Amino acid sequence: ATDVSQDLEKVLFTSAEIQARIDEVAQQIDEDYAGRDILLVGVLNGAVMVMSDLQRAMRSHVEMDWMAVSSYGAGTQSSGVVRILKDLNADLEGRHVIVVEDIIDTGLTLSYLMSNLASRGPASLEIMTMFRKPDAAQMEVPVKYVGFEIPNEFVVGYGLDYAGRYRNLRDVGTLAKHVYS
Ligand code: PRP
Ligand code: MN
Ligand code: MG
Repeated sequence: ATDVSQDLEKVLFTSAEIQARIDEVAQQIDEDYAGRDILLVGVLNGAVMVMSDLQRAMRSHVEMDWMAVSSYGAGTQSSGVVRILKDLNADLEGRHVIVVEDIIDTGLTLSYLMSNLASRGPASLEIMTMFRKPDAAQMEVPVKYVGFEIPNEFVVGYGLDYAGRYRNLRDVGTLAKHVYS
């Protein structure tokens, strides 16, 4: 039978390591936002797993909403064009908003999204990302919560995809060469 985990070449973060880090970040957010209700804004599709685990690790009052913003399409390189495929249902006016992402690579998606969301009048606006690559530094998007800094390699799992696949892997790692060919 097919087992997609067989297509991983190297595991960078195990499911247990990811969950442990999620717990730490959730606790930090709870402390920082003590007494305030939080609106988590997840960026589809990649942030689905982080959104699910982060909010269950939190003790604050938390609501969630979703945006779909795609810049990658089916390839492994950013196209440089950000499209809003689905906008929020919630009004951000006066809300404490945390944008939740699986990964920041070039920072293009978030730099676009942050200026867009900031114009909607939130009381506060921060970012939580599970992974961040080195190139993100060029965009100067202030990121308050980072799970792990990772090297500049193409990784999949825990929401991260290759051509739509491999998001369902619990671990995060690099793909074997045969997958690309
Ligand atoms: C991926 C990832 C981030 C973004 C990061 O999304 O989930 O949203 O790219 O890249 P950047 O920092 O270079 O902009 P993608 O556009 O692949 O859509 P997906 O979440 O549906 O996979
Ligand atoms: Mn994404
Ligand atoms: Mg993607």
